[in-house]
Amino acid sequence: MRLAKFLAGAGVASRRAAEEIIRAGRVTVDGAEVLDPARDVTEANAVTVDERPVSTERDRVVYAINKPAGVVSTVSDPQGRPTVISLVRSPLRLYPVGRLDIDTTGLILLTNDGALAHRLLHPSFEVARTYRARVWKPPVSQSSVMALRLGVTLDDGPTAPAEVRRLAPDRLEITLREGRKRQVKRMCEHVGHRVRSLERVAFGPLQLGTLAPGASRRLSNAELRALTRPVSRGPGAGHRAPSRPARGRPAGAKPRRRSTP
Ligand code: URA
Repeated sequence: MRLAKFLAGAGVASRRAAEEIIRAGRVTVDGAEVLDPARDVTEANAVTVDERPVSTERDRVVYAINKPAGVVSTVSDPQGRPTVISLVRSPLRLYPVGRLDIDTTGLILLTNDGALAHRLLHPSFEVARTYRARVWKPPVSQSSVMALRLGVTLDDGPTAPAEVRRLAPDRLEITLREGRKRQVKRMCEHVGHRVRSLERVAFGPLQLGTLAPGASRRLSNAELRALTRPVSRGPGAGHRAPSRPARGRPAGAKPRRRSTP
């Protein structure tokens, strides 16, 4: 199959965008850069985009994990702490999709598809992540909830509008479509409430549900398709392809390496 078709089939980008990605020199086949979108490849070839391996739907795996506190969400840890990777028995090389702080619990995904991980984290895809926070100094006022909804200015800039619900005087449910470092904790601190505990309960269409702490499960093909479907914006809005380029990167430009795989 043509390389551009292979990348489109693997969910990396549309066929046309995949051609541009190839011509920009971001793709290797078996370790060698390939600039020709018509180059023939099979599933036996090792294909990377921006140095991240691309899997076809057939050999792509994604696990949902309920991360307990005290587990780091990196591939390895120089301090020898347990990692999310150690919670899944798999012979495959797996990468966490983004990070949760060591004391944050809840839903985190692992995949063998680095390109998929990158895509799910990219701000232009606006994948919603929902957190439940228990905070100090209750009650959280309605004006604080409104401020969090509209966006607050943190030291790395203003936050985008968020969905925020007060579940109890000391409990908030916050849905973000961006993922900056310690974002929920910093947002809550900004309105005067340090976070006592934080749990991620949803990632895009996936819910944490009844998965026990430390347990994992492999996503079904239907769940995978739902995860990679373009964002829809409520009734009547229809499906919308991501349009806004990432902060600091023009559309189509080669991205900088991220610290998260
Ligand atoms: N926001 C935080 O503050 N911490 C996390 O782990 C995730 C989101």
